Amino acid sequence: MKGAKVNLKTYGEIGNSKKNADFTLEETLLTHYDALANKSQAVARKYFEENLHGLNGFKHLMVEEAIQEYLIEIRANVPFPGPSWGEEKFTFIDLFAGIGGFRMALQNLGGKCVFSSEWDKAAKQTYRLNYGDIPFGDITKQEIQKLIPQKFDILCAGFPCQPFSRAGVSARNFLGLQHGFDHPTQGNLFFEIIKIAAKHQPQVLFLENVKNLKSHDGGNTFATIERMIKEIGYSFFSKIINAETEVPQRRERTYMICFKNPQINFEFPDFKGISKKLKDYLEESVPNNYTISDAMWTGHIKRSKRNKDRGTGFTVSLADLNRPSNTIVARYYKDGKECLVPQLDQNPRMLTPRECARLQGFPETFKFHPSKKSAYQQFGNSVAVPVISKIGKQIIESLHL
Ligand SMILES: C[S@@+](CC[C@H](N)C(=O)[O-])C[C@H]1O[C@@H](n2cnc3c(N)ncnc32)[C@H](O)[C@@H]1O
Repeated sequence: MKGAKVNLKTYGEIGNSKKNADFTLEETLLTHYDALANKSQAVARKYFEENLHGLNGFKHLMVEEAIQEYLIEIRANVPFPGPSWGEEKFTFIDLFAGIGGFRMALQNLGGKCVFSSEWDKAAKQTYRLNYGDIPFGDITKQEIQKLIPQKFDILCAGFPCQPFSRAGVSARNFLGLQHGFDHPTQGNLFFEIIKIAAKHQPQVLFLENVKNLKSHDGGNTFATIERMIKEIGYSFFSKIINAETEVPQRRERTYMICFKNPQINFEFPDFKGISKKLKDYLEESVPNNYTISDAMWTGHIKRSKRNKDRGTGFTVSLADLNRPSNTIVARYYKDGKECLVPQLDQNPRMLTPRECARLQGFPETFKFHPSKKSAYQQFGNSVAVPVISKIGKQIIESLHL
């Protein structure tokens, strides 16, 4: 039976002829099979039985065994499958997973991802391509939250920053102990994290957000976050860190580390040192189509001049190759204005997706999305992996894992 191919059609897969189809819940359940509770495993098993093509090789096998073989095959065909069951040092969940910047870093530290959630189809495709798992969708949905395994060690989330200024709200109210589910803050993504953390009580919450989370709404937003995390029984350590000593990119982000154990006095690792130089991370030969057009270059110059005269807004400048680049953002694909590489006797060029992957510290074997626009957006949204690795290492040491 060994070597028999399990051919299961997967809807959201890149290259699937059903062009606009997304991955189904059942397909997603299958890739998380070993971490699921019995009931969800039964749903995955039924789907597997019903959709298995080329059954010949498996006729005599127990379905359970066939599923395990299917999972082994998936893992064998992706560059970053992570540790196998039983080999992990710790477990974590990957919320707002994007393309798995947290996952990449924590897997390398020996962690096993037992649940991931991301609702964007293209990001799910990139995730699947690299780690084998298909992330579950909308995390605000109760039926998705129910699938999170009861026990895991670390909750990771680079959650989108939505405006909220409910300085008066308490975790107690929010969790329905007093006001029930019609609370005005319901639906804010940070509160979903609170709900999940309060229910599952992992050892650590490892959160990331934009730099100005700290100053948003005069500090009210951040104060609410800190207070609510403490109210559900966690300590709270935070720091703004610039990634430029780890990757060739100025990227300042707020990191929040919260422990269940009040005895742990966490200290962030040191991010001092020499900044990385962009020139050491550029590809040697880049096709001409990355060079920006005359129209776009002239537009940049005109807009910059206008803004300079007014003293407001963005002014374009060529990247200094001896320094880190500006922060890469999701909209970079539009005109590359955050980082334009100077070229001899030509208009400047945009970074390639591979160079953006390097700016975020993803390994060379990381597979990016075939749509250039999606690839740029995904790297712009992601975390700088080496920063997460360095903080993650310190977390693991603090927990003595
Ligand atoms: C800032 S990005 C996080 C990127 C990630 N840390 C990485 O390394 O790639 C936030 C992600 O949350 C996803 N997202 C937003 N709302 C969501 C929801 N309700 N359920 C699941 N994912 C969601 C977005 O599609 C986006 O990819």
